[in-house]
Amino acid sequence: MKKNSFVSIADLSRGDIIRLIGRASEFEMNPCGTLLEGRVCATLFFEPSTRTRLSFETAINRMGGRVIGFSDVSTTSSTKGETLKDTVKMVSNYADLIIIRHYLEGAARYASEVADVPVVNAGDGANQHPSQTLLDLYSINKTQGRLEDLTVTLVGDLKYGRTVHSLIVGMSHFHPAFNFVSPGELRLPGIYRQFMDSCGIRYAEFTEFSEDVINGSDILYMTRVQRERFSDLMDYEKVKNVYTLRNIMLSGSRDNLRVLHPLPRVSEISYDVDDNPKAYYFEQAKNGIYARQAIICDTLSI
Ligand code: CP
Repeated sequence: MKKNSFVSIADLSRGDIIRLIGRASEFEMNPCGTLLEGRVCATLFFEPSTRTRLSFETAINRMGGRVIGFSDVSTTSSTKGETLKDTVKMVSNYADLIIIRHYLEGAARYASEVADVPVVNAGDGANQHPSQTLLDLYSINKTQGRLEDLTVTLVGDLKYGRTVHSLIVGMSHFHPAFNFVSPGELRLPGIYRQFMDSCGIRYAEFTEFSEDVINGSDILYMTRVQRERFSDLMDYEKVKNVYTLRNIMLSGSRDNLRVLHPLPRVSEISYDVDDNPKAYYFEQAKNGIYARQAIICDTLSI
């Protein structure tokens, strides 16, 4: 792996996270510059995206870099049978940095092992979404004034939600308490429960999305049921509308509570929440530009 690839949040220390959040904050104050002048960054998106690809591309443009890549794999030589390895090797010839989203878990790690330039994981299957986690941590720190000792409630698809998996690992440095709300079918995988046990992290699991859980939270992190990860769509149909956050449900919540969501949402947050000052998901997505500016500069050592 290239030394500076950004593949998993587990590769970052507490100090790395704090440093990157500080850098993102500097970019929020001064978003434009010439740090990437003369550099080319490739965005290889084998899965759909709105926020991640466009915020990475905005980040690159704002720093004077240029973007190549694709968002529709059907226009690439993958359709002729070209392997991921060959695609990544080729793009290494054209770009100084590769940002990749792929439907296979481990694809970004593999790409980082075969690429001649640093690789950033923009989401690999149900595994990890580390740049989302950095923007989530940035958003949590910005709204709470700290990362330490917070109660974070994660709701929805905890089985397939890669942002959930990454956030657990990212928050693990900061003494969190977690509540996990999901139907049994979408329970958090055992590997993450074992990880928290090994770190001594407190957590509780619920199937009911109750106001008691909301009222005891600092962060309410809603997630979409990941239709694209189900092998049997009948199973998806059973759980797709399992929880919906409505504005009335926030009436007894803490003043500092903020509602986050990696987006896109489907039915899990009612539109009547959008005007509540505790709704933070659109600002959260905007923070992605600054967090990704920090990640790009870190991977390129600039
Ligand atoms: N949060 C997120 O990854 O959104 P996109 O799928 O639109 O990139």
